[in-house]
Amino acid sequence: MSDYTTSTIFVIGGTGAQGMPIVRALVADKKYQVKVLTRDLNSARAQELLALGNVTLVEGTFADEDVLRAGFRDADGAYVNIDGFNTGEKTETYWAIRSYELAIEEGVRFFVYGNLDFVLKKSGYDPRFRTGHYDGKGRMAEWILFQNQSNRDRMGAAVFTSGPYAEMTVSPGTPMTPSVEDGIVTWRVPLGDGAVPHVALDDCGYYVRWIFDNPDRANGMDLEVAIEHVTYARLAEAFAAVTGHPAQYIDTDLDTYWNGPLKQVADLPAGYNADPRDKSTMSFRDNFTGFWNMWRHGVITRDYSLLDEIHPGRIRTIEDWLRREDERGRQLGKGTLWDRVQPENWRPDSPVLKGSADMRTGRL
Ligand SMILES: NC(=O)c1ccc[n+]([C@@H]2O[C@H](COP(=O)([O-])OP(=O)(O)OC[C@H]3O[C@@H](n4cnc5c(N)ncnc54)[C@H](OP(=O)(O)O)[C@@H]3O)[C@@H](O)[C@H]2O)c1
Repeated sequence: MSDYTTSTIFVIGGTGAQGMPIVRALVADKKYQVKVLTRDLNSARAQELLALGNVTLVEGTFADEDVLRAGFRDADGAYVNIDGFNTGEKTETYWAIRSYELAIEEGVRFFVYGNLDFVLKKSGYDPRFRTGHYDGKGRMAEWILFQNQSNRDRMGAAVFTSGPYAEMTVSPGTPMTPSVEDGIVTWRVPLGDGAVPHVALDDCGYYVRWIFDNPDRANGMDLEVAIEHVTYARLAEAFAAVTGHPAQYIDTDLDTYWNGPLKQVADLPAGYNADPRDKSTMSFRDNFTGFWNMWRHGVITRDYSLLDEIHPGRIRTIEDWLRREDERGRQLGKGTLWDRVQPENWRPDSPVLKGSADMRTGRL
C-alpha cells in the first residue's frame, strides 16, 4: 500500500472564507505545516494565518506555473480552491487541470480539490440549472477522480464538495444578504419551497483535516458536506428564535430578484478577470439564476448519515449554527447577530467573502 502521509500542505485560497478555517484546523495541534499562497503577504487575513504558527506565506498567483511549482515543491499535501469568481469558469478549468498535473510533477503525495456540485450533470443536463461556478469545479472534480484511477499510487486525491456558506445568510455582499424592512430581517430570494444545503465554515476545517488524517479511506472519495437542507422559512424562524427579533422569508420571482440589490452586477461577468467579450463567460444573472433553480428544484442531495459518522460533533441544524455564530460574534466584540445584519453596522471586514471585502475597499 502506498504511503499518503503528509506533513506540509500547500493551500491555494487559504486566506479566503473557506481557506481560513481549513488552515486553522490543519495547524491547530501543529500536526501539519501549511504553506499558504496569497497575492498579498500583508493582508490582515494573511497576517492572521501567519500568527497561528506552523504557517508560511508564499506570494503569487495560482495563474502562474512557476508559482504553482514553487508552492507544491517541498510540500507533500495540497488543498486547492481556485477562485472561480476571479477567473470565470473557462480559466478556472485550465488552472484546476494544471494544479493537479504540477502537484504530481512536484511529488505531492495527497491532493485535495475544493469542489462544488456538478449541477448540470446532476440535473440530467437541464440548462435551467447551468451554474458556471458550480459546473466549472464539478466537472474538474470528476476529471481529477478519473486521473486518480491511474495515478492513485503516485499521488492520492480526494474531492471536498461544499456549498453555500451559512455565513453568507448574515453577511453583506452575497446572493442571500438579508435586508431589514420595518425592523424585520428579510430574505427576498427566488427559492420557492426549496432548500439550500448550507455549509458551516468551521466544519469545513474539520472535514478537510479528516481527509488528510485518513488518506487511505479518503483516496478517490468525493466528500459532499452540508449542515442540513435549509428552507428559508426555517432560516427566518430560527433567526427569530436565536435573536428574539422578527425575521421573514419572501419568495421572489427571478425578475424581481435581479431588479433588487444585485441589479448593478447582474450583467457583469461572474469572474472579475473573465473576459466580458468571450461568449463562454457567464453573467452574474445567468450564473445565479441556475444557482437558485438548483436549490428551488431540489437537485442536490447529501448523505447526512455519512457526515454523522465522519464528524459526530458536526453542526446539524441552521438554528444551532445561528446560535453559535451569535455567540462567536459577541465574544469577538462584533455585537449580536441582530446587530450585525443591520446595514448601518456593516464594517469593511463584515463580508465573509474576502473577494467582496476587497471589492468594497478597492483592493481588487
Ligand atoms: N461562497 C460560497 O458559499 C462558496 C462555497 C463553496 C465554494 N466556493 C468557491 O470558493 C472559491 C472562492 O473561495 P472563497 O469562498 O474562500 O472566497 P473568498 O473569501 O473571496 O477568497 C478568495 C480566495 O482566493 C484567493 N485568490 C483569488 N485569486 C487568486 C489568485 N489569482 N492567486 C492566488 N490566490 C487567489 C484569495 O487569496 P488572496 O486574496 O490572499 O490572494 C482568497 O484566499 C470560488 O471558486 C467559489 O465558487 C464558494
